[in-house]
Amino acid sequence: MRATPRAPLRPRQDAHSVDIFKRSWEVYQTVVAHDSVHHKQLFGAIRDYLEGRPGDKLSILDLGCGDAGCLASIIAGTPSLRDRITSYTGIDASAPALALCRTNMAAALGGGGGGAAGAAEIDLREGGMLEGLAAAAERGERFDVVLASLSLHHLSEAEKARAVEAVGRVLAPGGAFVICDIFLLPGWSRDEFMRQYHADVYEVNGGWQGQDKAGKDLLWAHISNYDFPVELSHYQAAAAAARAAPGGAFISAEGRVLTEVFVYKVAAWEAPPAAAAEAAAAAS
Ligand SMILES: C[S@@+](CC[C@H](N)C(=O)[O-])C[C@H]1O[C@@H](n2cnc3c(N)ncnc32)[C@H](O)[C@@H]1O
Repeated sequence: MRATPRAPLRPRQDAHSVDIFKRSWEVYQTVVAHDSVHHKQLFGAIRDYLEGRPGDKLSILDLGCGDAGCLASIIAGTPSLRDRITSYTGIDASAPALALCRTNMAAALGGGGGGAAGAAEIDLREGGMLEGLAAAAERGERFDVVLASLSLHHLSEAEKARAVEAVGRVLAPGGAFVICDIFLLPGWSRDEFMRQYHADVYEVNGGWQGQDKAGKDLLWAHISNYDFPVELSHYQAAAAAARAAPGGAFISAEGRVLTEVFVYKVAAWEAPPAAAAEAAAAAS
């Protein structure tokens, strides 16, 4: 069995963790196509959550949207969801990914969405998600749902907490932050995570399907340098500090060896209505 290379302790800051998406977006698309990290189950859970939200209008901010291929696919396949979407805003540091995102989202919304309001607006912004959140807050923008799917693990621990806090400033009253990501199981170190992940990419059942050695090596280099999952409690503590009410939608996608190490979850936090938040702030 090959030795797992020792992993760095925090994400590299030099390339905004998007090198793989600049160089080789198709490698990630193969991960999705072969469901190597359970996108089908995860986005099924996201669809159920979004569809079940009350209200007839939905504005979405997607942090680290990538090509938004999976989100576009659930929107296209769920007319009752698609027709409520008034706007879709995506932020990503990768320009090639955003170009694909525009095509995917335009096709999914089909020039429609927004119900009686007419065509949903598609607004794509190139740049870092923390910077994008700060700019949105400064402009006074508000969204019903902020989604971060498989993107927050690229941030350092401090940045993850800052993201949760910053999202609180752009959520509309009753809005929710939906995090879909990889998490460490309680007590697991990143080294454990890396060991199991390495086996999953290269060894278990022949490793990730549809990838040749060069593709796996590219993915592994990316994972080693940029994938920094934390325990779910890290986000829960940040959400509590940001006065968000835990939404309670925790959906595991369990599969193969990764089940033993960490689970993917969709976690939704509802922002408290503005009045309640002010009362809580005044009382503290
Ligand atoms: C694994 S992909 C996930 C894409 C998509 N959300 C999905 O669920 O398929 C991670 C995305 O996050 C973006 N990303 C990573 N770090 C970022 C940062 N600091 N700011 C903005 N985007 C970032 C990458 O460019 C990439 O498109």
